[in-house]
Parts: sequence; C-alpha cells; structure tokens
Amino acid sequence: MISSYKFPHLLSMATLLFLVAVHLHSSAAVAVVPSTEANALLEWKSQLPNQSRALLSSWNESSTTSTGLCSWKGLTCDASRSVTGLNFSHVAINGTLQGLNFLSLPNLTTIVFINCSLSGGIPSTISNLSKLTTFDLGINGFSGGFPVFLGYITSLQYLSLSDNYFTGTIPGSIATLSNLTYLNLSNNQFSGDVTSLIRLISSLPLQKLLLSYNNFTGSIPSSIGNMSSLVQLWLQQNQIHGLIPFEIGKLGFLWQLDLSQNI
Ligand SMILES: *[C@@H]1O[C@H](CO)[C@@H](O)[C@H](O)[C@H]1NC(C)=O
Ligand SMILES: *[C@@H]1O[C@H](CO)[C@@H](O)[C@H](O)[C@H]1NC(C)=O
Ligand SMILES: *[C@@H]1O[C@H](CO)[C@@H](O)[C@H](O)[C@H]1NC(C)=O
Ligand SMILES: *[C@@H]1O[C@H](CO)[C@@H](O)[C@H](O)[C@H]1NC(C)=O
Ligand SMILES: *[C@@H]1O[C@H](CO)[C@@H](O)[C@H](O)[C@H]1NC(C)=O
Ligand SMILES: *[C@@H]1O[C@H](CO)[C@@H](O)[C@H](O)[C@H]1NC(C)=O
Ligand SMILES: *[C@@H]1O[C@H](CO)[C@@H](O)[C@H](O)[C@H]1NC(C)=O
Ligand SMILES: *[C@@H]1O[C@H](CO)[C@@H](O)[C@H](O)[C@H]1NC(C)=O
Ligand SMILES: *[C@@H]1O[C@H](CO)[C@@H](O)[C@H](O)[C@H]1NC(C)=O
Ligand SMILES: *[C@@H]1O[C@H](CO)[C@@H](O)[C@H](O)[C@H]1NC(C)=O
Ligand SMILES: *[C@@H]1O[C@H](CO)[C@@H](O)[C@H](O)[C@H]1NC(C)=O
Repeated sequence: MISSYKFPHLLSMATLLFLVAVHLHSSAAVAVVPSTEANALLEWKSQLPNQSRALLSSWNESSTTSTGLCSWKGLTCDASRSVTGLNFSHVAINGTLQGLNFLSLPNLTTIVFINCSLSGGIPSTISNLSKLTTFDLGINGFSGGFPVFLGYITSLQYLSLSDNYFTGTIPGSIATLSNLTYLNLSNNQFSGDVTSLIRLISSLPLQKLLLSYNNFTGSIPSSIGNMSSLVQLWLQQNQIHGLIPFEIGKLGFLWQLDLSQNI
C-alpha cells in the first residue's frame, strides 16, 4: 500500500505492461487452438452443398477464437462462451443433421431449424444433450418415425416436429418428458390411437397440444380431464371419432379446441 501511494505512476505502468502481456498471451493461445465446438460446426459446414456454405460465411477458420464463434450466424453462447443455441429460420441450409456432432456441443439448450430445407432423420446423439429445452424442426423435409430416444431428453419443454414427413406411432417414451409444455406434431403422417396417446401424455404439463393434419384414429379419453394446464388443443383433420368426454369441462384454461374435419 505504501509503495502504491509513493509511486502511483510506476505501479500503474507495471500493471499496464502485465495486462498487455496477458492479453497477447491469451489471444495467441486461443487462435492456435480452436474449440471442439467450433470444429464440430465447421466439420458439419464442410459437408453442406456449396450454396449453403455461402449462407454460413461467418462460420470460418479466421474467426474460430471463442469470441468469434459466438458471433457466428445463428449461434448463441453463455457467459463462458460455450455454445448454447443454434437458431435458424428461413435459411436454406439444404442438408441433414447427420454430420453434426452433438456430443461436441453438450451445452446446447436450444436447437431451432425452422424452414431450413433439412431432411433425413433425427440423429440419436441429440438424446445426449441433457440441457436441451427447445427443439424445433418445423417446416422441413425430415422423415422417419418419432424417435424413441427423444423421450430421454427429459429437460425438453418445447418440441415441434411440425410440417415434415414423419410417420408411424408416437412411442411410450414421450411420457417421460415431464417438463414438456408445448408439443406441435401438426402436418405429418403420424398415426395410431389418440386414446392411448392422450392417456400417455395426460400427466405432462402441456399447455399446447397440436396434433392436427395427421392420421390419428380413436377417440378422446376421459384422462384429457387431467391435463389441467391445457390452453390449446388442435386435433383437426385426423380420423378421430366419438363424443367429446365431459371431463374436458374441467380444463379451466382451455380456450381453443379444434376437432374439425374428423370422422
Ligand atoms: C464447390 O466449390 C468448390 C470450391 O470451393 C469447387 O471446387 C467445386 O467445383 C464446387 N462444386 C460445385 C458443385 O459447385
Ligand atoms: C469470416 O467471418 C467474419 C465474421 O465472423 C466475416 O467478417 C468475414 O468476412 C468472414 N470471412 C470470410 C472469408 O468469409
Ligand atoms: C459447458 O458448460 C460447462 C459449465 O458452464 C463448462 O465447464 C464446459 O466447459 C462447457 N463445455 C464446452 C464444450 O464448452
Ligand atoms: C430464435 O431467434 C429468433 C429471432 O431470430 C427469436 O425471436 C427467438 O426467440 C429465438 N428462439 C429461441 C428459442 O431462442
Ligand atoms: C422458407 O424459406 C424460404 C427462403 O429460404 C422462403 O422463400 C419461404 O417463403 C419460406 N417458407 C415459409 C413457409 O416460411
Ligand atoms: C438442395 O440440394 C439439391 C442437391 O443437393 C438441389 O437439387 C436443390 O435444388 C437444393 N435446394 C435448395 C432449396 O437449395
Ligand atoms: C449418449 O446417450 C446414450 C443413451 O442415453 C448413451 O448410451 C451413450 O453412452 C451416450 N453417449 C455419450 C458419449 O455420452
Ligand atoms: C406449429 O408449427 C408450425 C410450423 O413451425 C407453425 O407454423 C405453427 O404456428 C405451430 N402451431 C402453433 C399453434 O403453435
Ligand atoms: C424440470 O423443471 C424444473 C423446474 O423448472 C427443474 O427444476 C427440473 O430440473 C426440470 N427437469 C429436468 C429433467 O430438466
Ligand atoms: C390413414 O389411416 C387409414 C386407416 O388406418 C389408412 O387406410 C390410410 O392409408 C392412412 N393414411 C395415411 C396417409 O397414412
Ligand atoms: C387423473 O389422474 C389421477 C391421479 O393421477 C388418476 O387417479 C385418475 O385416474 C386420472 N383420471 C383419468 C380420467 O385418467
């Protein structure tokens, strides 16, 4: 303390030199070693068609420092500059997700690819993202079944596979998504008994359940009355039949129920 009082200029000059040295050292170190997160993203980009790579021109080797990474198009980071979100809408990426190594992006909380001309299936490594809360693949060309492994992502709150070419029944694993508030499966070719599906998900905290424009069959079970958070229920254009159970009257927040164009 005494020296700082007596030689304030000397001390501040020493501090300044130290800070400059630290800065030079750290920026040099970061530039030499790009993160595994950057590498995973660049590897995926390298597999995309030429035109799509042009759409991701900000994803480049000259900006692989951790600061640069966080300014790449569509990416969000946390305070420690780890990637937490991939968020794209209306960008014609025109590829698949198969070449994206999600194991190298363990801090993802958000994956949004809306209308990105993506196709193929959902890679199973998605299930290793234990912090994922939002997963939206709406308006693409994805196909295949609803993967059982989506049920392992118990952190999920928002799930949309809407407007794709998914087929088949919804597996029982969906019942383990105990924080799910939004489920949009509209405009696919999902099928199966809506009675057992609603029984499966009736204990989830769903606020919006959108199953319209599919090929679900069966009738609405009385367990719908247990979905007390439900505000929006869309079932139009399926092959659902039968009466609406009186338990639906228990749903105090429900403001939109659409059952049109069923049988
Ligand atoms: C893609 O770009 C590379 C150079 O970046 C070029 O050599 C190749 O011919 C291009 N391919 C197509 C299909 O345009
Ligand atoms: C690399 O990305 C930065 C922004 O992150 C951009 O300013 C620069 O033009 C890009 N370089 C190339 C060669 O596209
Ligand atoms: C993920 O976040 C944790 C905690 O914030 C951090 O320790 C870890 O390095 C991050 N992972 C990557 C691959 O950056
Ligand atoms: C994705 O980005 C859009 C803006 O482009 C924003 O409105 C939206 O909230 C983001 N979604 C998530 C889940 O962060
Ligand atoms: C999808 O994105 C394309 C641009 O890539 C745009 O022209 C088209 O209108 C979008 N479609 C929808 C349904 O938003
Ligand atoms: C996507 O790529 C295929 C070939 O890989 C091409 O035929 C098609 O025109 C592309 N679509 C868009 C929207 O870029
Ligand atoms: C990913 O998750 C699967 C299924 O939960 C598990 O078997 C596998 O060991 C996990 N892989 C890694 C690398 O954590
Ligand atoms: C369901 O998803 C589609 C495609 O992303 C979107 O356009 C639609 O608004 C969603 N429906 C509701 C009610 O959120
Ligand atoms: C579900 O949400 C609660 C409350 O936000 C949180 O404490 C819990 O960790 C979440 N569960 C999972 C599996 O993420
Ligand atoms: C819908 O289900 C009916 C009856 O199970 C079946 O005959 C029909 O082929 C299905 N349609 C589609 C598009 O899957
Ligand atoms: C509603 O939930 C309660 C408690 O979990 C259960 O006992 C009851 O059978 C459920 N009601 C229906 C109609 O499934």
